[in-house]
Amino acid sequence: MTDQAASPWPARRDGLLYREPTEADVEVLLQFRNDPGVNHFMVRTSVEPDDLRREVLTIPDSPTDFSCVLERDGELVGMGFLDVVDGAGQPGHPTGTDGLIGYIVRPGHEGVGIATATARALLEAAFGGLGLRRVTAAANLANHASVRVLEKAGMRRERHEVQALWHHELGWLDEVGYALLAEEWAAAHVP
Ligand SMILES: CC(C)(COP(=O)(O)OP(=O)(O)OC[C@H]1O[C@@H](n2cnc3c(N)ncnc32)[C@H](O)[C@@H]1OP(=O)(O)O)[C@@H](O)C(=O)NCCC(=O)NCCS
Repeated sequence: MTDQAASPWPARRDGLLYREPTEADVEVLLQFRNDPGVNHFMVRTSVEPDDLRREVLTIPDSPTDFSCVLERDGELVGMGFLDVVDGAGQPGHPTGTDGLIGYIVRPGHEGVGIATATARALLEAAFGGLGLRRVTAAANLANHASVRVLEKAGMRRERHEVQALWHHELGWLDEVGYALLAEEWAAAHVP
């Protein structure tokens, strides 16, 4: 990522408006981030209102957090997460080169492609806008819809950790990791 990296938002794609969150979004985000259906596979099963407010409202000024909210027909229908992180390696490796993505869809809006569109928009923002080198995402293997979203977005499964995550109802569950390199993304998006 260059020092001058500008926010990739707002952007319009696939019938969705991706934009930075504002104070007016906090109440709606709070409602659905703490919905039991949304939280079912989340490691953080609930978020304190003050924490969520602080996390959301610091996004626009953050040099590394390019998360966004999604609107469809003027209604907030989800959130996309895009964090710029350092890759791993020996001392001296370049920093701020990698991205980590995620998404949540507002209950009542699942199953119509919003998460898949969001994953694609986040990859475009990461590689096309921010110039990142590699983007990763992780999902609970039992979260079939999320795994399907990452596959449909064109990411490559490169990690499968067996019984790696504790779930309060289901016990130890597997986690899968997906990745995509800038050159893989570019090869799949030849104009
Ligand atoms: C998981 C989640 C992001 C999916 O969002 P969505 O907008 O419904 O996803 P999409 O409509 O883009 O795609 C879902 C895909 O999963 C499939 N799917 C849904 N439920 C499924 C299931 N139980 N088993 C297998 N596939 C399933 C859908 O059929 C669709 O695939 P298709 O287009 O090939 O038919 C959404 O339900 C959500 O926010 N869940 C709670 C938060 C969460 O788990 N976030 C991900 C953390 S890694």
